[in-house]
Amino acid sequence: MAVFFEDVSRTFGEYLLIPGLTTKQCVPSNVSLKTPLVKFRQGEKPAIELHIPFVSAIMQSVSDDGLAIELARNGGLSFIFGSQPIHSQAEMVRKVKKFKAGFVVSDSNLTPENTLADVIALVKKTGHSTIGITEDGTPNGKLLGLVTSRDYRVGVDLPDRKIRDFMTPFSKLTVGEAGMSLSEANEIIWEHKLNTLPIIDRDQNLLYFVFRKDYDSHRNNPLELSNPTDKKLLVGAGINSRDYKDRVPALVEAGADVLCIDSSDGYSEWQAETLRWIKERYEGKVLVGAGNVVDREGFLYLVRAGADFVKVGIGGGSICITREQKGIGRGQATAVSDVAQARNDYFRETGIYIPICSDGGIVHDYHMVLALAMGADFLMMGRYFARFDESPSKKLSIGNTYVKEYWGEGSNRAHNWQRYDMGGSESLKFEEGVDSYVPYAGKMKDNLDITLGKIRATMCSCGAVTIPALQQKAKITLVSSTSIVEGGAHDVILKEHN
Ligand code: IMP
Repeated sequence: MAVFFEDVSRTFGEYLLIPGLTTKQCVPSNVSLKTPLVKFRQGEKPAIELHIPFVSAIMQSVSDDGLAIELARNGGLSFIFGSQPIHSQAEMVRKVKKFKAGFVVSDSNLTPENTLADVIALVKKTGHSTIGITEDGTPNGKLLGLVTSRDYRVGVDLPDRKIRDFMTPFSKLTVGEAGMSLSEANEIIWEHKLNTLPIIDRDQNLLYFVFRKDYDSHRNNPLELSNPTDKKLLVGAGINSRDYKDRVPALVEAGADVLCIDSSDGYSEWQAETLRWIKERYEGKVLVGAGNVVDREGFLYLVRAGADFVKVGIGGGSICITREQKGIGRGQATAVSDVAQARNDYFRETGIYIPICSDGGIVHDYHMVLALAMGADFLMMGRYFARFDESPSKKLSIGNTYVKEYWGEGSNRAHNWQRYDMGGSESLKFEEGVDSYVPYAGKMKDNLDITLGKIRATMCSCGAVTIPALQQKAKITLVSSTSIVEGGAHDVILKEHN
């Protein structure tokens, strides 16, 4: 006889928080959004703690190196998408690990044998006027000179003039050395009235440029998520349960700090096998999350197989049609509270805390607080991040608005066969995700400021200045559909926004 769950499957929009006592200490500036990413023993600290409870979805249209850098600078973490060849995923991880604020790897490079016509074409293509002249024309080749717009006159100089005849040669350049800090570099820029300071290694190879114009815009990121010893930003990577024996070593080698097995249904022997292989091969030193599950059984299965965190959610993603296609899934709020209960029981019995991640289905900022209050330690979001400048997808204008593309990993577009097609045939048998647009929302930092501001304010209303306190103190109520109407603007005539 089939098992019937007694609870109705519910989602975040069906709940509200009831305020708790807001003490005088409960002010947004006192709120800490720190939260564990991986398992830890009672009384110990987790190996990685997020500074804001957000991770970005393991998706082609969301988590590449660019978004990963920006999110880590703001206190969260990205899992670089795994639906790509192993070498290109590892390269993205490497780029995040190499990132140093203010130190830019040159994207415009030529050799002394190129011509002025090449310079003009390159400036047009990149929009950048500083060109590194290296022996082999690569970004990290031996530095022989620099070309900026001050070195030539368009329309006066002949287009076939060789760069070696008009570049500023290396002997006349002021350069910085590998390992110098940004403030040391800025000192030199200031002293020598430079616009650009090339940073070179001992063999005169070009490593980075430091630009004067970045000095003012260099932001202070107090929440930055980096390794305290080497200061490198933290980054995660998605893996699958099929090519993991090749993919995991490449990602570990590239410097990934944590991995996550990416699947719409994680309650499987494939995932257990993958977890066990990784834990054995790296003697427990490589951190790896697993999922997705939506109930206690699935959670305990992955925990016993060695998962460092467990991802919760099936079918709630904005681009997801898994529930319609396969009839599996559970309302996200119910799934999170059920698994959170299992996590707490497990902690009580073993003294080991396994963080859980609520993945998918977050629409409004208040859903985030609800997910945390219901027991999620952190949230994975796709749609939220896809809307920002830093996401890898194209920005388009449709009608009077800007949008960005956003497509599911189970869509034909993503061609992520490993994840959805267990048989591994040539094409997807059916799609579990759609290809869509999301409204463009500008810079990630500006949006995070607003979202996190709201979360802190709600936590203060609940009388909590930490996420664990919120989870203990939150009072949550179901709402009727009529009270949802009451919650919006109603019975007034809204002024039109132009
Ligand atoms: P969102 O934040 O609501 O957009 O949901 C993002 C989440 O949806 C991801 O983290 C995945 O768990 C899930 N997801 C991504 N692509 C697909 C798909 O094609 N079908 C079903 N779920 C997907």
